Amino acid sequence: MSITAIKGMNDVLPGEVETWQFLEQSARDVFSLYGFSEIRTPIAEKTELFCRSIGETTDIVEKEMYTFNDKSNHSMTLRPEGTAPVMRAFIQNHLHNLDPVSKLYYMGPMFRYERPQKGRYRQFHQLGVEVLGVEDAKVDAQVLAMLHQYFARIEIDSVSLQINSLGCPECRPGYQQELIAYLESRLDQLCVECQRRYQTNPLRVLDCKAAGCQAATIDAPSVLDHLCSSCNDHFTQVKYYLNALQVPFKVNSRMVRGLDYYVRTTFELVTDQLGSQNAVAAGGRYDGLVESLGGPALPGIGFAIGLERLVLMKNEQRISPATPQLFIAALGKEATDRAFVLMSQLQIAGVRAEMDYLGKSLKAQMRRANKLNAAFTLILGEDELESGQAQLKNMSDSSQSIIALESLVATLSKKLGQVSTYS
Ligand code: HAM
Repeated sequence: MSITAIKGMNDVLPGEVETWQFLEQSARDVFSLYGFSEIRTPIAEKTELFCRSIGETTDIVEKEMYTFNDKSNHSMTLRPEGTAPVMRAFIQNHLHNLDPVSKLYYMGPMFRYERPQKGRYRQFHQLGVEVLGVEDAKVDAQVLAMLHQYFARIEIDSVSLQINSLGCPECRPGYQQELIAYLESRLDQLCVECQRRYQTNPLRVLDCKAAGCQAATIDAPSVLDHLCSSCNDHFTQVKYYLNALQVPFKVNSRMVRGLDYYVRTTFELVTDQLGSQNAVAAGGRYDGLVESLGGPALPGIGFAIGLERLVLMKNEQRISPATPQLFIAALGKEATDRAFVLMSQLQIAGVRAEMDYLGKSLKAQMRRANKLNAAFTLILGEDELESGQAQLKNMSDSSQSIIALESLVATLSKKLGQVSTYS
């Protein structure tokens, strides 16, 4: 039997990849308007980085990491997310010495050993951004405005933004204690998983999909009623600036995140188009993370968008691959050789040119030109070589014009060179 891909890890084929390229390019365009620069980190890191940042008791660290020992017996992990590696690179390369505010973006594969289903894979791709060095709520609002602009740019409007504040190390422990006490009184209604984790990670119970847990937590205390005054002010300002920037949002006090580094603002962009995998993007503030990883005490905020989920949502509006601008159909060895050189010269001059490599009949070559959706065709046979002229056929209206072979490259590159990549 032939070898297949690893479960939950997918190929992106021609015909699909154009949508990916469009989504990636749009991200580069929008993020650069806000002053973000790209950062690329390795896809594997020392395992410890993720345990210390994401949190030992999270699902990701407990169950989902691709961790293995290399040949020197060092434990390494395929990155399950991008924030921790970016923080590691930020600290290691002293980026804070270059600028008090760093705005970074990244895109690439992440790995989580989850149960694959629609919208959830073991290798998936994120488009992420991180801002380091600013505590001001304006940055929270600006990052969300940028996310909003990106979705407008890629023309996906069936998403809504939910925001919450998870408090800080000052106010969250008190809230957690109250939540634990509340859960303790309803322990028999919780699922086995939540009975196990309610003490170590009580907030996750609010997020559990099990009907019993949802019913048991309907009247659970709200984190927003337990914020200290500075977290409360910060959250009020985030909402104020979001309104000022006309970014629509809903407050969802039950929204918690699966990573431990968050403080204060957290958010998710959700859709009802993807079944249970409803978060298309998510993120928040992580003010203590850089310091806890051995760097300076700098606040941070960011988000990551799940690219596969965007692609699923863009499926109806597939972007077509670039089609040839010219197909040269040649007959006979001499004409085929001439066509081959012409095609190369046209490509160098910036024209998307194609020809037949398989020695097919003229009819079959024209069929292929049609199938490839070539804008123009040029037929080259003995007669054309002799007269030094050939017919250029416009495939959309079948009009023909005579063109001199001598000036073919100059004429065509002038005529066709400006056609956009996505036709
Ligand atoms: P996250 O919520 O774990 O956050 O992931 C962000 C997004 O990645 C999700 O909303 C989803 O769209 C996508 N995603 C996650 N897991 C999968 C999967 N198995 N298959 C397909 N898509 C998936 C983070 O990763 C944080 N690092 C985000 C962040 C950046 N926070 C601050 N800065």
